[in-house]
Amino acid sequence: MKSKSILIAGILFGLFIGWYVFPFVLYQRNEQPIQFSHLAHTGEKGGMACEDCHSTNENGRFQGIPAVVKCSECHSVPLGTTENEKRLVEEFITPNKEIPWLVYSRQPDNAFFSHAPHIKLGEMKCEDCHGPHGNSEFLKTHQTNRISGYSRDIWGENISGISLVKWEGMKMDKCVRCHEDNDRRDGCVACHK
Ligand code: HEC
Ligand code: HEC
Ligand code: HEC
Ligand code: HEC
Ligand code: HEC
Repeated sequence: MKSKSILIAGILFGLFIGWYVFPFVLYQRNEQPIQFSHLAHTGEKGGMACEDCHSTNENGRFQGIPAVVKCSECHSVPLGTTENEKRLVEEFITPNKEIPWLVYSRQPDNAFFSHAPHIKLGEMKCEDCHGPHGNSEFLKTHQTNRISGYSRDIWGENISGISLVKWEGMKMDKCVRCHEDNDRRDGCVACHK
């Protein structure tokens, strides 16, 4: 009886270490340089489209996160009274300094990804891969894997790597699986340069 309860206690302790302590040690927690609400801009009040900030240039190249000049179109002086907006103007717009955003979906340097074929030819929606980020109200803590240097969002929230949320995680097998579903059998060099 006693050895059984020791065994159960041991299993529970192991689970506790695996699920709560291990992720805490594995990931380094970094805050974004300032807070940003997508919803303030893309919601009913802001009324902006994704393309207003995440445009594709004339060569079909996706421009990623907008530069600070984009923000200064509306925020050269604060529109509201929030501390965030005050910091945006004082620390970035007035001195014309770029905001060092941390990218949740950043892939390792040896993997090649391009938005244009997915958005234009594949007609995919941003939500298919990024979930509801475009309507989010605040930026969560960026968690960086201390061993691989990847963001936790590449692996997915669940430490076991299993997820029931379709858009969560963007590991290689996910890219390859969707390519196969679309009858694409790419060689390694399609994604690794
Ligand atoms: C006012 C400009 C603006 C508009 C409009 C906008 N975004 Fe963004 N977006 C940003 C900024 C600034 C960042 C960097 C901070 C962050 O990660 O949210 C960003 C980052 C992102 C990211 C990258 C997240 C990551 O780190 O991997 C995604 C995905 C994204 N936006 C999706 C959208 C979608 C979808 C829409 C439309 C529903 C949209 N955005 C509209 C300014 C904008
Ligand atoms: C087309 C105009 C427009 C552009 C471009 C724009 N914003 Fe805004 N922004 C707004 C409006 C409107 C509000 C809401 C003001 C309010 O209700 O207080 C707002 C609010 C904000 C706030 C305050 C809300 C909060 O969460 O504290 C921040 C910070 C902000 N924007 C950052 C940015 C950044 C960073 C960029 C550039 C990537 C940007 N904005 C580009 C119009 C714009
Ligand atoms: C097929 C999946 C997929 C779709 C669809 C997609 N993205 Fe991405 N997105 C990614 C991946 C993967 C990355 C990381 C790219 C990298 O690190 O090289 C990324 C990165 C980003 C970034 C980070 C900035 C950067 O320069 O890399 C932004 C912003 C972004 N996406 C916005 C969008 C928006 C807006 C849409 C819709 C118009 C969209 N994405 C559609 C997969 C996707
Ligand atoms: C949800 C499905 C889906 C996901 C997820 C996806 N892709 Fe794709 N990808 C496609 C489709 C569909 C095409 C073909 C578009 C076309 O040419 O019509 C494509 C095309 C490509 C191409 C070829 C572009 C060219 O020039 O032919 C590359 C490279 C690529 N994807 C890389 C990636 C990487 C890297 C990832 C993961 C980070 C990824 N994809 C995730 C569906 C997906
Ligand atoms: C459709 C795109 C795609 C194709 C095709 C592809 N890869 Fe990858 N690969 C990726 C992405 C994205 C990553 C980074 C995310 C990850 O580690 O899962 C990656 C990561 C890797 C890694 C590092 C693994 C790790 O965990 O750090 C290796 C090794 C690798 N790929 C080898 C290959 C080989 C060998 C092939 C050909 C048989 C191949 N890949 C084909 C997209 C692709």
